Amino acid sequence: METNKKVALTFNEGRDTIEMPVLAGTLGPEVVDIRTFGKTGMFTFDPGFLATASCESKITFIDGDLGQLYYRGYPIEQLAERCDYLEVCYLLMNGELPTPAQKADFDKKILRHNMLNDQMFTVFKGFRRDAHPMAVMVGVVGALSAFYHDSLDITDPHHREVSAHRLIAKLPTIAAQAYRYNKGLPFSYPKNGLTYAENFLHMMFSTPCEEYVVNPVLARALDRIFTLHADHEQNASTSTVRLAGSSGANPFACIAAGIACLWGPSHGGANEAVLKMLDEIGSVDNVAEFMQGVKDKRYKLMGFGHRVYKNMDPRAAIMKQTCDEVLGELGLQDDPKFKLAMALEKIALEDPYFIERKLYPNVDFYSGIVLSAIGIPVSMFTPIFALARTVGWISHWNEMISDPQQKIGRPRQLYTGSPRRDVQQLSDR
Ligand code: SDX
Repeated sequence: METNKKVALTFNEGRDTIEMPVLAGTLGPEVVDIRTFGKTGMFTFDPGFLATASCESKITFIDGDLGQLYYRGYPIEQLAERCDYLEVCYLLMNGELPTPAQKADFDKKILRHNMLNDQMFTVFKGFRRDAHPMAVMVGVVGALSAFYHDSLDITDPHHREVSAHRLIAKLPTIAAQAYRYNKGLPFSYPKNGLTYAENFLHMMFSTPCEEYVVNPVLARALDRIFTLHADHEQNASTSTVRLAGSSGANPFACIAAGIACLWGPSHGGANEAVLKMLDEIGSVDNVAEFMQGVKDKRYKLMGFGHRVYKNMDPRAAIMKQTCDEVLGELGLQDDPKFKLAMALEKIALEDPYFIERKLYPNVDFYSGIVLSAIGIPVSMFTPIFALARTVGWISHWNEMISDPQQKIGRPRQLYTGSPRRDVQQLSDR
C-alpha cells in the first residue's frame, strides 16, 4: 500500500508545506492519503466524489478507460459465462470461488431460507395496491430488522453471515410478492428444487390454478442479469449502505437505505427510464429529433453514460448478447423496442456529441428490453436490480464493519450561508 512517493502542498502563500503519502493499490490509480490534510486548517472540496476514494476495498475493480470489471479479480465476462449467480455471491462475500462442496452447502443455506415470516405479509398489506414496488421493497426490507432479532449483533461475524444469507435468500421473495401484491395476485411461496433464478420466476408468475413450468433459457438469462448487477465498486447505493452501516445501523436497515438510493433514475432507476424513453421515441423515424433534444439538453439519453466507464460498459455487451438469446428463444427477433435500441446505439456511437463526452451504453441500456421480453413489467426492473445488488451491498457492509480502522462517515462542507446575525423579535421584522 505505502509507496516511497509523497505529494507536497504549499499553503499560506507558500510559507507552509505539508507532505502527504501516496498509496498504491493492486490495480488502478494511486491515491494521495489526505488524512493529515486537516493540519492545513482547510478541508478538501469534491462534491459528488469525482476525485475521492472513500475507502479501501478488495471486492470489485473497474477500469473505466478500458471497460473492464472484475469481481475479486475475475473478469465479469468469465463469471457471466462460467458461473451461476450463487457462485458469484459466494465469491463476493468470501473472496474465493466455492469448491463443489462449498457451493452445495451455500446453495442449500440460501435456497432453504427464502421463505418470509408469514406475519410479514401484513406489512405488504399496509401499502396501497398501486404502490411502486420499490416503495414496498424499502419498507419490507427495513421491516426485516423487526423480525430477525437473533442476527443483529454486527460485532459478531456469525450474526453478520446469517443476516447476509437471510438478505440474499429473501430479497427475491420480497420482490416477487411486491409484484403480486401490485397485481392483486395471491402471495406465492418459493419451491424447493428450483434454482435461485427459477424460483424467482416461479414466485413471480405461478398461479394456484396450474403448474408453472420455468423456461430454462429465460431462467439462465435472468441468472446472468443478477450476476451482471451484483456489485460495482463505490456506486451511489453501495456508498449509501457503507455510510449507513458506519453508524452501526443493522444490516437490514442499511440495505433498505441502499434500495432507496438505487431507486433514482440516474442510478438503478435508469433501466425503467430507458423503456419509457424508447416508448416516447416510438419509432426510428423520431430518433434524429430526439437526439437533437438530447444535444439541446432537453433530455438525457437514458442507459448511456457512466461516472466511471469512459468506454463500453462490459456488462452492456453481455446484456446485448443475452438480449439476442432471449428474443431468439421467444421468437421476438423483430422486437421493435430492441431494433429501436440498436438504432439509437448505432447513431450515438457515431455521433461526435456522444463520442466527445465518452457516452457509451451502460448496463441499463439493454437490461430493460430483456426483462420486458421475459414478461417482467417496467416497474419491476429496479427491484430486480436491487435484489441482484444486495450481495454487493452486504459484502461491502461486511468489509467495512470488519475493518478495524473504520469510523462513522461524516463529511465536512464549504459553508456559503449567512454570517452570524441576531434574531429580531417578530414585532420588529
Ligand atoms: C448505474 O456508479 C455506478 O457504478 C452505477 C451503476 C452500478 O452498477 O451501480 O453502473 C449503475 O447507475 C448506471 C448509470 C445509469 N444511469 C443512466 O443511464 C442515466 C443516464 N446517465 C446519466 O445520468 C449520467 O451519465 C450518469 C449519472 C450516469 C453519470 O453522470 P456524470 O458522471 O456525473 O457525468 P455528467 O453528468 O457530468 O456528464 C458529463 C457530460 C455532460 O455534458 P456537458 O455538460 O459536458 O455538455 O455528459 C453529458 C452531460 O450533460 N451526459 C449526458 C448523459 N450522461 C452525461 N448527456 C445525455 N445523456 C446522458 N445519459
